[in-house]
Amino acid sequence: MSKLTLTITSTTMTEHKVILVTGSNKGIGFEVVRQLARLGHHVILAARDQAKGQQAVEKLLKENLTVHFIALDVTDEFSIRHAVEEVKRKFQHIDVLINNAAVLLREDQSVSAGTSEVFHTTMRTNVFGPVQMVRNFLPLISSGGRIIMTSSGGGSMSDPVGGWSPVYCVSKSSLNAVTRHFAYELADRNISVNAYCPGWVKTDMGGKSAPRTAEQGADTAVWLATAVISESGKFFRDRMVIPW
Ligand SMILES: NC(=O)c1ccc[n+]([C@@H]2O[C@H](COP(=O)([O-])OP(=O)(O)OC[C@H]3O[C@@H](n4cnc5c(N)ncnc54)[C@H](OP(=O)(O)O)[C@@H]3O)[C@@H](O)[C@H]2O)c1
Repeated sequence: MSKLTLTITSTTMTEHKVILVTGSNKGIGFEVVRQLARLGHHVILAARDQAKGQQAVEKLLKENLTVHFIALDVTDEFSIRHAVEEVKRKFQHIDVLINNAAVLLREDQSVSAGTSEVFHTTMRTNVFGPVQMVRNFLPLISSGGRIIMTSSGGGSMSDPVGGWSPVYCVSKSSLNAVTRHFAYELADRNISVNAYCPGWVKTDMGGKSAPRTAEQGADTAVWLATAVISESGKFFRDRMVIPW
């Protein structure tokens, strides 16, 4: 068995897991939370804006879904550490960490000519954010735990460069690289680390022309979080491994 083929057989669809989803007050993250809550898991809806986060929780409450809110800005290490303490106090551990929060900036038009601010903000949120999340939450993730990175086909090193939002695409290529290294480093602890692309999804980020609904976009994340899966260090779309 390769170092990256993990034995995760003890988890089933019926087991109730503690699952944290970053940037989940709206869009795909919100839908991931909703679907996981419907399955009966203990879901932590994390949002950087307290009011938006609370509104999202209340929206789910109207659907008879109870989720736990936590304030969390993935670019703020103090905020991450505070969240770790809160999760530790309330749940003692997490089974699945879903790094979903990301930005795609309107000014993101060129790698060669764009401002360094666009580069810094995008990389700090989309790459260093997930890295810091993993590093800080790792003590709460035990054997059998899972880390899921929300990536994008825009970060693919196999597909041709599309030209759209190039800094965002670079950030997702970097996130993919980070995923593989975390998978390698955490294999000995039996923690799987995979990335997935939700497809082009109708959200504030994806825009109105996107062909997929948030429900469809969330599907692979929910599957990666809950199904019996032996893969680690892989890139998925529509529940299938795709090339990096
Ligand atoms: N939509 C697509 O077509 C598509 C395609 C491929 C991949 N993805 C990926 O899917 C994920 C979700 O995207 P989406 O379409 O749902 O985007 P979205 O609707 O714009 O939602 C992004 C979420 O990330 C949060 N966020 C941004 N910066 C944050 C920070 N520093 N700390 C904490 N939260 C932060 C936002 O919070 P605020 O509400 O406070 O801004 C929001 O909740 C992203 O990783 C994205 O790259 C999306």
